[in-house]
Amino acid sequence: MPDNEKGGGKTSRRGFLGQALTAAGTAIAAPTLLNQASMAKEATQNSQGEITVKLTVNGEQQTLNIEPRVTLLDALREHLGLVGSKKGCDHGQCGACTVLIDGERVYSCLALAVMQEDKKIVTIEGLAKGDTLHPVQAAFIDNDGFQCGYCTPGQICASVALLDEVKRGCASVVTADLTRPPQLAELSEKEIKERLSGNLCRCSAYNGIVAAVQQAAGQTPPSAVADVMVRESGERT
Ligand code: FES
Ligand code: FES
Repeated sequence: MPDNEKGGGKTSRRGFLGQALTAAGTAIAAPTLLNQASMAKEATQNSQGEITVKLTVNGEQQTLNIEPRVTLLDALREHLGLVGSKKGCDHGQCGACTVLIDGERVYSCLALAVMQEDKKIVTIEGLAKGDTLHPVQAAFIDNDGFQCGYCTPGQICASVALLDEVKRGCASVVTADLTRPPQLAELSEKEIKERLSGNLCRCSAYNGIVAAVQQAAGQTPPSAVADVMVRESGERT
């Protein structure tokens, strides 16, 4: 048996650990006392480990009892029945879950619901005014900006935020002159593609999506349908 495992005149491993823990006790006690505030918050959890969270979604106050680890996406879909926001990857890679929080686009799969109190959340369900579609929604329909539609709620929410960002003079990494970001009327296809690069479309409906954003920006996009007809007639001749 190695010496450091024996008792007697030498310090045993068990004895050494005991002394070390006793010495460390003071250091451990300080942060424990400092954590009283967070302990008080934990005390508000019910027996299932849930806490009460108040969210403002599409203009309505919602009160949920959820575990602190619940994402905003799951809170919307599983607890509020707002299934328009889609779960594509659940890892911040596809953009299907994009919603607006205080006007900014956010991947709701990467946002904890408990952190969204006192913020205004808007989902795809909150964009239309009654039977009147949001201009971006109408533009997606006019320009065939979708096929299966799975990515579409995220694409539309991202596009709404994109247009607002342009109105506020935000530049992108492809903006040539950072002192003069593009206006809505001159927003190029390259700018739109870059600014929507966080939203993937597995059906590859990108031409229609870009045209929809151009229309919503007040431009006259090329007709996707006419383009296809021209291409097909060209191929036949
Ligand atoms: S589901 Fe959130 S980014 Fe894919
Ligand atoms: S329309 Fe199918 S994934 Fe975009």
